[in-house]
Amino acid sequence: MNMPDEKALRHLNTSLNLDPLWIPFTANRQFKAAPRLLVSAKDMHYQTHDGRKILDGIAGLWAVNAGHCRRPIVDAIKQQAETIDYATGFQMHHPAAFQAAEKLVAITPPGLNRVFFCNSGSEAVDTALKVALAYHRVRGEGTRRILIGRERGYHGVGFGGISVGGMVGNRKTFGNMLGSVDHLRHTHDPARNAFSRGLPEHGAELADDLERLVQLHDASNIAAVIIEPVAGSTGVLLPPKGYLQRLRSICDKYGILLIFDEVITGFGRTGKAFAAQTFGVTPDLITCAKALTNAAVPMGGVIVKQGIYDTFMEKGGPDSAIEFFHGYTYSGHPLAAAAACASLDLFKAEKLFERVAELAPYWEDAAHSLKDLPHVIDIRTIGLVAGIELQPMAEKPGARAFDAFLRAYDKNVLIRTTGDTIALSPPFIIDKAQIDQLFQTVRDVLKALP
Ligand SMILES: Cc1ncc(COP(=O)(O)O)c(C=O)c1O
Repeated sequence: MNMPDEKALRHLNTSLNLDPLWIPFTANRQFKAAPRLLVSAKDMHYQTHDGRKILDGIAGLWAVNAGHCRRPIVDAIKQQAETIDYATGFQMHHPAAFQAAEKLVAITPPGLNRVFFCNSGSEAVDTALKVALAYHRVRGEGTRRILIGRERGYHGVGFGGISVGGMVGNRKTFGNMLGSVDHLRHTHDPARNAFSRGLPEHGAELADDLERLVQLHDASNIAAVIIEPVAGSTGVLLPPKGYLQRLRSICDKYGILLIFDEVITGFGRTGKAFAAQTFGVTPDLITCAKALTNAAVPMGGVIVKQGIYDTFMEKGGPDSAIEFFHGYTYSGHPLAAAAACASLDLFKAEKLFERVAELAPYWEDAAHSLKDLPHVIDIRTIGLVAGIELQPMAEKPGARAFDAFLRAYDKNVLIRTTGDTIALSPPFIIDKAQIDQLFQTVRDVLKALP
């Protein structure tokens, strides 16, 4: 690890002005009273501003799948910065974006082989929703305007994402959001499925909720359904057995596009490149971001079925017409594209997705060994993801899990909590001893929690 020396750390601790920065998704006042700063990283570890080495149990934020500061990615970014810092993607382009797209579609489900780049998961979601609306319009079914999300869904923080999303904290403050949106019921059913190993047995019938919405709105008005195949930010919710298949077939029956938001499940997290492949269900569009560049440079993407792209090309007017009025200044940015190429190469060279599948049974056993600990009301795992749901404290939702987060950090392990669920998602280079350390720390923390 390229660690700052003690003098540099002392200087940082005394010189840093915390006031001007408004920190995202953070209790700013609490944080600034007792800051937690990460100052360097290598492989499975961060170093903190107070000189501690922290085991990263969450791959940064479900993102650094190959581990931190990996040499091939760092070198690719450096080299690209010296070669071409920026090129507009509008009516011009540069080679690395094409190379990144080609490497990406080499690992996507069959048929999904056209890519639109953006800079984040939120932008990927907005882009996918816009593709869906524009696609129906360009092929002559412009009445299809309704977008369907799911309760407890998380699709980032753009107005599109919060509208189709279903986490109340992200929605309640922002008024009407997009019109023409509806939601499926969520699939979390601990009464029937708690402590399932593998996918939950019960709940495939919840996909029929889409039939209800079709009866309400009529299929001729519905453009797309967007869901996370594994819902992450709402607390690691796995799809019940058969649920995704059923949703796929209802979408097919009514000509509704199915979008999988794979911002966290993409790039190996469930043991295959995409959760679509793990579950054997192929959507029409996939959103991705985070691990696309191993999180080293912001980048997102929407991968679409070739037929969707072809429709725009065939029906989008004369060859001189712009077929889709959408794009970002930084779409396919050279540094991001270089980082994506290097990351995709590294995932392949080190067989990291296969490694997830190999480690998954060990990981699952380690997670389920926490079953009888105080406060634990459910445990859910897939690939290298675990959700450990705790009984909320009366009148204080989220407080117990956040307390666990602080205590784990004191014990040099970074975990993440969402609501009262501890969500773990380490880099894929984690070894068994580190898995043991991660779960032993969570065990010690849970035993000590009030
Ligand atoms: C499923 C899903 N979609 C979208 C997003 C938003 O991504 P970003 O924070 O890069 O905008 C996230 C972020 O965690 C996510 O989990």
